[in-house]
Amino acid sequence: MAQEDVFKKLVAHCKEYGYVFPSSEIYDGLSAVYDYGQYGVELKNNIKKYWWDSMVLLNDNIVGLDSAIFMHPTIWKASGHVDAFNDPLIDNKDSKKRYRADILIEEHIAKIEEKVTKEVEKARERFGQAFDEKKFRETNPRVIANQTKIDELNERYSKALNAMDLPALRQIIMDCEIVCPISGSRNWTEVRQFNLMFSTELGSTADGSTTIFLRPETAQGIFVNFLNVQKTGRMKIPFGIAQIGKAFRNEIVARQFIFRMREFEQMEMQFFVQPGTELEWFKYWKEIRMKWYQALGFGAENYRFHDHTKLAHYANAATDIEYRFPFGFKEVEGIHSRTDYDLRQHQQYSGKKMQYFDPEKGESYIPYVIETSIGVDRMFLHIISAAYLEEELKKEDGSTDTRVVLRLPAYLAPVKLAVMPLVKKDGLPEIAEKIVHELKFEFNCQYDDKDSIGRRYRRQDAIGTPYCITIDHQTREDQTVTIRYRDSMEQERIKISRLKDIIFEKVSIVSLLKKL
Ligand code: GAP
Repeated sequence: MAQEDVFKKLVAHCKEYGYVFPSSEIYDGLSAVYDYGQYGVELKNNIKKYWWDSMVLLNDNIVGLDSAIFMHPTIWKASGHVDAFNDPLIDNKDSKKRYRADILIEEHIAKIEEKVTKEVEKARERFGQAFDEKKFRETNPRVIANQTKIDELNERYSKALNAMDLPALRQIIMDCEIVCPISGSRNWTEVRQFNLMFSTELGSTADGSTTIFLRPETAQGIFVNFLNVQKTGRMKIPFGIAQIGKAFRNEIVARQFIFRMREFEQMEMQFFVQPGTELEWFKYWKEIRMKWYQALGFGAENYRFHDHTKLAHYANAATDIEYRFPFGFKEVEGIHSRTDYDLRQHQQYSGKKMQYFDPEKGESYIPYVIETSIGVDRMFLHIISAAYLEEELKKEDGSTDTRVVLRLPAYLAPVKLAVMPLVKKDGLPEIAEKIVHELKFEFNCQYDDKDSIGRRYRRQDAIGTPYCITIDHQTREDQTVTIRYRDSMEQERIKISRLKDIIFEKVSIVSLLKKL
């Protein structure tokens, strides 16, 4: 199945099974805003717990923070967001549709890349075992021509984007003959800057209100509290502050479901270090963060670093961790060595010293910062797209059947176990209810007695429940139940008294954290 179709099915599945709903759906929705349903919120909470514990629990030099969404407007002047948090937008005069100029160009480049990939894959099929991809890429004339085009375009594009040279961006769109997907025309306006911050008024207009911004990142709340936390927590450098919270961006082109939203959640950690040691710490956090993803067991080959070659003026190193989504490798997390830029800016704008006195060196300095920044929703999309599987099953009579299963890691699954009486009589429901009552203090359990056992299993597979417990007549005799494993569909008979320990070992986040 084409990856595009898989993605469409995944979005539909999320809605049908209570993971993600379009926001304000009965009013026809609100673009790029989503609500998390009964299972979505559990998965989201489990993702956040995994991140939070890996930062705050496992590191005695990292502490948490929960700063307000509303902040003093000068913060955004100091951080550079008022002047520079812009996207280049362009309108098509015929369709009246608005696009991000950078995305139009990136998509154009991606199309040429796709051509190269197709060419390579065709050759791989033709030559089989003997295929030497490197040699093919170096010698095939069509691949060479397209690769040269890609390299030249990439260079021209990143130069224009870094300098925010708007006419140059427009010229690339014209030269590449990029058309509007709706009107099919090349009747483009000039490229303009568009600030992504949402603003609102604080206080009533009669009293004289102040325009404030909804934070576009959580990081600034950490920077402005740096000394509060350092002093009250008696923190010694190196130390980190972690925060999870909502952020808001008025994205011009918000799409790909929850990949790019206007209201989203971030998990950010700022690690304060001695100047001069930042590149060692940058390397350290790259490794730690990659391990965090790989511990989930979705395959190391599905992640990669995308090191930035062109750096923002305040950074001296930056990389993205990318995951292979159904629509290609895309950023899930950014890791940046941000120098002392933010603290220095806040020192200048607030007039307050943002320095740390280092008792070992006997001197004060503005610390340098390594930032790790991941989107909760993007991580959610990564997990759910990695877990979604349409599986073909062979039945005993030789015919085939399909099941949809979410192979979520057990510690992230919303429901850990479903308890099912085989029939709704003979005292079996009572035994099942008793088991749920005992286990519900430890795990998210579901009692289910509707429909055939096969249909109940499928329902649980579709929401990703890793274990199903079935109570049958034998249970009454020997106090055993069957435990059915979601992925293998195998079943085992075990004593009720062992259930808690067995499940605990499999779903506990501790075993995941111990892999880090
Ligand atoms: N403080 C640094 C910062 O905010 P960023 O690269 O703009 O850096 C960090 O954002 C992460 O936040 C991204 O890697 C992504 O996971 C998530 N993110 C950013 N914009 C988003 C959006 N519009 N919708 C969903 N997630 C977003």
